[in-house]
Amino acid sequence: MQKIIIDTDPGIDDAIAILLALSAKQELEVLALTTVNGNVGLDKVTKNAFRILEIAGRNDIPVYKGSAEPLVRVHEHCEAFHGDDGLGNLRMAESQRMPEEEDAVDYLIRKVREDKGNITLVPIGPLTNIAKAIQKDPEFIHNVKEVVIMGGAENGGNMTPHAEFNFWMDPEAAKIVFQAGFKKVTMIGLDATRDVWLNSDLRELLWQINTPASRFIHQITRVYVDGHWNYAKEIGCELCDVLIIAYLLNREIVKTKEAFVDVETEGLCQGASVVYPTFIYKDKKKNCLVATGADKKLFFETFFHYLFPGYED
Ligand code: BDR
Ligand code: CA
Repeated sequence: MQKIIIDTDPGIDDAIAILLALSAKQELEVLALTTVNGNVGLDKVTKNAFRILEIAGRNDIPVYKGSAEPLVRVHEHCEAFHGDDGLGNLRMAESQRMPEEEDAVDYLIRKVREDKGNITLVPIGPLTNIAKAIQKDPEFIHNVKEVVIMGGAENGGNMTPHAEFNFWMDPEAAKIVFQAGFKKVTMIGLDATRDVWLNSDLRELLWQINTPASRFIHQITRVYVDGHWNYAKEIGCELCDVLIIAYLLNREIVKTKEAFVDVETEGLCQGASVVYPTFIYKDKKKNCLVATGADKKLFFETFFHYLFPGYED
């Protein structure tokens, strides 16, 4: 059983990722959701976290509210993809639950200290909370087992030619995370997430499966599909954050290579993850595993096996 904390900005693909994580009851123990400004503002993503937990029937999972802004800059949100409310504009009722009193950064620091070496951090939004925890507690990086990040891209971004959204939103935070010296970091960026798309047949199948979770995913992805079409004339939607949870469930799904990664914070390429080619930088110490691609078939087998058993074929 892997103990995980999901640091998230839900967000449509965040929502699906969280549902997948919660469906894998034997494999993943989700200790908490910590929220961060990203796809939409902090209040909205925190409300969405509760809505997702409600759909999953997991109101026992605590939610800790984190950073309302990136470390040093202000950026626009991503309503064009995720809807004004961040969750597909379904006009869902709000949960009556409230976030825990403790701030997300303090919770992260405390929890990984209490369960030293056993907790995997799963940031699927901007890395602001994680960077603040690094800055606040020198022991933090030593207490964490592993960090599996959705973010970055070796070969082309989705916000600028080189920057992926989560790193673009808070490049300074991403840089701090890569320079921190965690025991193990995996960067699963667009080079791999571009391989996992929800197409219209699969969206339709989700409607037919007719469970609260399948219909919820069908409904929230309407706006997300429109966003992909309007923005890039792409058909379907990319399941970025979902791939990170699938990878935790089966490490064969994502192909990785070891590399040294840094993040650009200035100029034209700010927010770009720079993956140093090993054939040039032979002696440079590597600081992470970088995803190079994903196995689409294995991904969807895993997705349906956990979320909608019986439909994996
Ligand atoms: C990332 O950006 C967000 O819009 C998604 O939720 C995902 O975390 C993909 O670039
Ligand atoms: Ca996200």
